[in-house]
Amino acid sequence: MQEIIRALEARRTEARLGGGERRISAQHGKGKLTARERLDVLLDPGSFEEYDMFVTHRATDFGVDEMLIPGDGVVTGWGRINGRIVYVFSQDFTVFGGSLSETHAQKICKIMDLALQNGAPVIGLNDSGGARIQEGVASLGGYAEVFWRNVQASGAIPQISVIMGPCAGGAVYSPAMTDFIYMVRDTSYMFVTGPDVVKTVTNETVTHEELGGASTHTKVSSVADAAFENDIETLLEVRRLFDFLPLKAGERPPSIAVNDSPDRREDSLDTIIPDSPNKPYDMREIIEKVADEGDFLELQAAHAGNILIGFVRLNGHTTGVVANQPLVLAGCLDIAAAKKAARFIRFCDAFEIPILTFVDVPGFLPGTAQEYGGIIKHGAKLLFAYAETTVPLVTVITRKAYGGAYDVMASKHIRADVNYAWPSAEIAVMGAKGATEILYRSELTDKEKIARRTAEYEARFANPFVAAERGFIDDVIMPHGTRRRVVRAFETLRGKRAQGPVKKHGNIPL
Ligand code: HXC
Repeated sequence: MQEIIRALEARRTEARLGGGERRISAQHGKGKLTARERLDVLLDPGSFEEYDMFVTHRATDFGVDEMLIPGDGVVTGWGRINGRIVYVFSQDFTVFGGSLSETHAQKICKIMDLALQNGAPVIGLNDSGGARIQEGVASLGGYAEVFWRNVQASGAIPQISVIMGPCAGGAVYSPAMTDFIYMVRDTSYMFVTGPDVVKTVTNETVTHEELGGASTHTKVSSVADAAFENDIETLLEVRRLFDFLPLKAGERPPSIAVNDSPDRREDSLDTIIPDSPNKPYDMREIIEKVADEGDFLELQAAHAGNILIGFVRLNGHTTGVVANQPLVLAGCLDIAAAKKAARFIRFCDAFEIPILTFVDVPGFLPGTAQEYGGIIKHGAKLLFAYAETTVPLVTVITRKAYGGAYDVMASKHIRADVNYAWPSAEIAVMGAKGATEILYRSELTDKEKIARRTAEYEARFANPFVAAERGFIDDVIMPHGTRRRVVRAFETLRGKRAQGPVKKHGNIPL
């Protein structure tokens, strides 16, 4: 028996070495951790249980039958993050460049199936040269099996992708269908076709980093939700994100003990709105002052800065935040902002995460670029996403809520549950200047008259009371009491039950 045990240990040691010392050093030389080292950082110490350590590929072409490396380029299993179960796969670049063979795919599929069956999230650490070139269509079939499971799991369990090396070709579509993508700066990239193909087809010269690096995907394309300096920082941030999420649909999002009174007053909020309606202020500051312990996990911070999305806790409970940001484009809604917020709202709704919306929006961004780009269709995504939610919605209008954007931003009319306004709120069809210029066009040359008309319009509409008189606003609240009021509002909504009509699924304008 002793010998059998020693033989098992020897096999395990061999498997843990992956592609061998030389390739491990090369991986370290690029500033990257190995697949197993990454899992050590991601998971609670000692919690990882590995499956399929001895799986090898079954291919025979191009001499690969001589190269049988146990594990076949991916480490799979489950572990815990702060005590909660998560299924994981971590591609091992030291084995065939982490490329995906039929058996490599089967290992990933096995843990995805278990995650879905047992109701726990999946985190995939991607570091792969793509389809195992020696396997051809068997590898492509493997990818498609993973894709299909990504779709089945979508909305049922949270799925997080971490890009920690190459992720190219069709391989990008598995992460693309998961809920969150985190990238590592300088060592990871994602693209459908690489720089060489781009050069051949379009004659553009572009580097890997420019085409599909973390900066491109967090700022320009919005494919990635966040990027961090190195493997360790990225994985620790994934742990932080995970702590906000429920394990599966139908389950309440986690709540934790926090060191922050739900009744905390924030007097500085009474002076945050500038005297001039055209002066911006930082909405992020309001979010942080309302959140437990000032902790705001912002997503897509570098893309569509005119809207902010992310998670906070309110009295310990995970809450999604969507907020117009007056610092960027005066907080106007545009195509990028609508898409960014709509997808986040749908994630929150799928996983029973209540949503707090802060509104300061002068309207939709005008211009041919927006109209030609389909702002009608894309803006509708945001309206559709809010209107189909059944999770608790609490809205606070801090300043402007003009026109269609007022309706869209979680107004009472699209079934937000509790709508508050600060005394500085202006709820109207449009700003006073624009309104008077249309209503009193014939008087435009008379500056004095127009100024009087503008002042009249302002006095009537540049306040929250017209909406409050109709019950569209439940109360006009003191800015310093915002935290207390929204915490209490969400508390009353914890038992909310809402059911839409029976249907297969809606048809969101994609
Ligand atoms: C088999 C692969 C491989 C692959 C890399 N390797 N990619 N083996 N299939 N796809 C092996 C290499 O032979 C090498 O083996 C080791 O992994 C490390 O690769 P290097 O090239 O030395 O590393 P590096 O210089 O860092 O370059 C990494 C790379 C490059 C940029 C990923 O390897 C590369 O371009 N690979 C091919 C990428 C590709 O075209 N894949 C198919 C895409 S199509 P040794 O033994 O020397 O260590 C696709 C379709 C998916 O993925 C479709 C889904 C529907």
